[in-house]
Amino acid sequence: MRVLVTGGAGYIGSHMVKLLGERGYEVLTYDNLSTGHDWAVLYGRLVVGDLAYKDKLREVFGEFKPDAVMHFAAYIVVPESVREPLKYYRNNVVNTINLLEVMEEFGVDKFIFSSSAAVYGIPEKIPVSEGAPLNPINPYGETKATVERILRDLSNSGKDFRYVSLRYFNVAGADPEGKIGFAYPNPTHLIIRAVKTAKGEFERLEIYGTDYPTPDGTCIRDYIHVVDLADAHIVALEYLLEGGQSDVFNCGYGHGYSVKEVVETVKRVTGRDFKVVEAPRREGDPPVLVADSKKIRERLGWEPKYDDLKFIVKTAWEWEVKGRG
Ligand code: UFG
Repeated sequence: MRVLVTGGAGYIGSHMVKLLGERGYEVLTYDNLSTGHDWAVLYGRLVVGDLAYKDKLREVFGEFKPDAVMHFAAYIVVPESVREPLKYYRNNVVNTINLLEVMEEFGVDKFIFSSSAAVYGIPEKIPVSEGAPLNPINPYGETKATVERILRDLSNSGKDFRYVSLRYFNVAGADPEGKIGFAYPNPTHLIIRAVKTAKGEFERLEIYGTDYPTPDGTCIRDYIHVVDLADAHIVALEYLLEGGQSDVFNCGYGHGYSVKEVVETVKRVTGRDFKVVEAPRREGDPPVLVADSKKIRERLGWEPKYDDLKFIVKTAWEWEVKGRG
């Protein structure tokens, strides 16, 4: 079974490539290395290319003949998407259309899409289930919601095309074997910032807002280990290979931690104290974002292995101090 992975040299994509390789899939990574790294691709071939180049894609599809495509390649920084919406729409939407068109040309009909909890915006009900309205509050979330609508329409068009869209909550942690992990410049995500602060790379950690309507006043998120997330893609792929119909699933554990709880856990796991300061709220942060994860557990039989904040932080920390993080 051959799987083409776009963005396979990036943070989540590289964990996916590793898991696919370990499970015996043949894998090819297509990545422009704008934020990814060649060393992160542990299995299969890496083709350095951009999704803007349809001819290059055609070449790769013609040679590799994938059975399915997993599409991770996208821009992911919310504040940047506010400043540079065209950049985000071009890469996340237009380039996805390029990929879907080439898939259609080559008769590849199974697609797994990296969507985001950002499609929900500020949900009315927590935990948020897949049936909640798509109501993104920033261009990044809009690009993911737009692609989801394109996929729905394509899947309803009568053509041979089935997809699974996975809505990621807060992905964190690193390969427990320490071979790969998060490696982008200027990270903004909480767990990465916190472990880098523990390491001494940043002088202090800012908590963005302590006056939210939550028990300790800080935002609550559903942190999911990157390997459990990769495993969700495997069960989704198996579902499509067995003839499953197009569908959308949340990827989270179904419970959350506050920013203060995360910071405490980082201090405990790393054994390092560091300076933490209270800062104003960051724009666009929903107070609580927790997945209703029943659907993926019940319909796809997904069984996460690392639902443990301490383990998530431990793997992120080990990568930071021993790996290339
Ligand atoms: N936070 C801090 N200090 C920091 C970094 C983050 O207090 O230095 C807080 C944020 O304000 C937020 C929480 O920690 O309350 C988590 O923030 P992250 O930046 O780690 O993650 P987000 O919840 O903002 O982002 C995630 C995904 C995005 C997605 C978004 C949807 O990473 O891709 O959820 O809300 F768009």
